[in-house]
Amino acid sequence: MIRKWWHDKVAYQIYPKSFYDSNGDGIGDLPGIISKLDYLKDLGIDIIWLSPCYRSPLADQGYDISDYYDIDPRFGTMEDMDRLIAEAKKRNMYILMDLVVNHCSDEHEWFQKACEDPDGEYGNFFYLRDKKEGELPTNWRSYFGGPVWEDLPGTNKQYLHVFHKKQPDLNWENPRLREEVYKNINWWLDKGLAGFRIDAIINIKKALPFKNYAPDREDGLTSMHNMLAEAKGIGEFLGEMRARTFQKYDAFSVGEVFNEKEDEIPDFIGDNGYFSSMFDFNETVFGSSQNGWYDAKPITPDDYKRCCFETQQKIGSTGFVSNIIENHDEPRGVSRYIPQGDCCPESKKMLAALNFMLRGLPFIYQGQELGMENVPFQSIEEIDDISTKDEYQVALDAGCTPEEALAAVSRLSRDNARTPMQWSAEENAGFTTGTPWLKPNPNYTAINAASQETDPDSVRSFYKKLIALRKNPEYKETIVYGTLEPVWEDRHNLMAYYRKGDKTLLVVGNYQRASQTITLDVPYKKILLNNYKDAPKSSQAIELQGYQVLILEM
Ligand code: GLC
Ligand code: CA
Repeated sequence: MIRKWWHDKVAYQIYPKSFYDSNGDGIGDLPGIISKLDYLKDLGIDIIWLSPCYRSPLADQGYDISDYYDIDPRFGTMEDMDRLIAEAKKRNMYILMDLVVNHCSDEHEWFQKACEDPDGEYGNFFYLRDKKEGELPTNWRSYFGGPVWEDLPGTNKQYLHVFHKKQPDLNWENPRLREEVYKNINWWLDKGLAGFRIDAIINIKKALPFKNYAPDREDGLTSMHNMLAEAKGIGEFLGEMRARTFQKYDAFSVGEVFNEKEDEIPDFIGDNGYFSSMFDFNETVFGSSQNGWYDAKPITPDDYKRCCFETQQKIGSTGFVSNIIENHDEPRGVSRYIPQGDCCPESKKMLAALNFMLRGLPFIYQGQELGMENVPFQSIEEIDDISTKDEYQVALDAGCTPEEALAAVSRLSRDNARTPMQWSAEENAGFTTGTPWLKPNPNYTAINAASQETDPDSVRSFYKKLIALRKNPEYKETIVYGTLEPVWEDRHNLMAYYRKGDKTLLVVGNYQRASQTITLDVPYKKILLNNYKDAPKSSQAIELQGYQVLILEM
């Protein structure tokens, strides 16, 4: 594997709308992010991925872009963006933007022009089909519910949107569209951006010609996955994009890639892959159900372990996967992966260490370093996210009572991760002096950055130690490039693996409340990290306390 500048880094995702509000309008913004760069530097962060802050109607919170060359005034100005890049650079930090090019906003100029003249140049930037009464061009179900077809205003045509109707899909088959995308990427890279997180990219290749697939729910529609499984040739687009953009800049790119096949991994993230890295969503894929969120499987500690190891084995040393516990589309990892009732500082630290020490690039989502938890939603009215609202309806349609539907979508709602960052115990979690766009999690008085800063035993302090360990010159080679070998794989509620490089490290977590004992072949040399104060009594027969995690040098 060719070594790259970003391999030994630690990345952090910011959801700008909820990070820090500098001007009291209740919406997080770029000056707010700039004012918190030192907080991130102190944590040990190198790479910062910003969820979209381009000009947007915010129908899907910025994942619907109306101008790829502008910053939405609610987030700040282009000067703020330039200042953010410069201030990050001063601190040896790198900024990634979100590249959202499967679709744009219906308020983008291209779409407006397509409406004016659907047979003209911009009509071909989208997927348009003639409207037929009583019949849709295909029976695909949008990710956010309902059919993927919508009337093109002022015309006798319909357009395709695999996400929300305010997110028309861009036609990647059209070379003119691709040129526009590459021009924009290069424009940002010329500004000094370090790279991109690449949104929903697996959707850019459609199986042509369009056709229906077998309906899989009462609505007569079919999951997008059925079409995507038949779509061949995405590599031509992705390879071209890499060659025309990222490659020339040695930029970092991380793809939001779901359901890749094992033999495609080298193409995606091998030495000459389309992307530098891709996220591991194995737990999410494992837990999901074709029927909707209400039917999602809970993920047990043994499932969690198996999912992590499956990915690790699949990737091996072919490339560098990006490991996450959560992101802006997922519930809080501590609420999802720690058995109910057991969420506490110890279990949060255990989960952190088990995930962070996997081979690959660790991404921390804002607030994860504080152990932020899911929100106790009291009513569907408290939820802003379009996806959650749709899934609530899906649950009701499937026969759930309103209480059951709310409970089901609360577990997975994207708003769990989108409430304001909990900076302090002050009003509104110290996020804003105004009215926050989304209510903070009421637990902010207990869980917040300020109270954890000076506490050496806080979750945040533990994350700092984990990051420092990854950067420690003595262990860096092993942690970054060493192989990963699972141990005691069949032990219930125990997750353990070796990382082997020029050193051998053992990472072991007791994924339950009751203690359990492991026996090492040889005594360990040194404890590098322990979420309990006391060292084990023996260095060979080790009794692990509830949710204890150890990183041992062997
Ligand atoms: C990705 C984003 C998600 C967004 C969707 C459509 O999955 O992470 O937030 O809703 O794409 O852009
Ligand atoms: Ca603001």
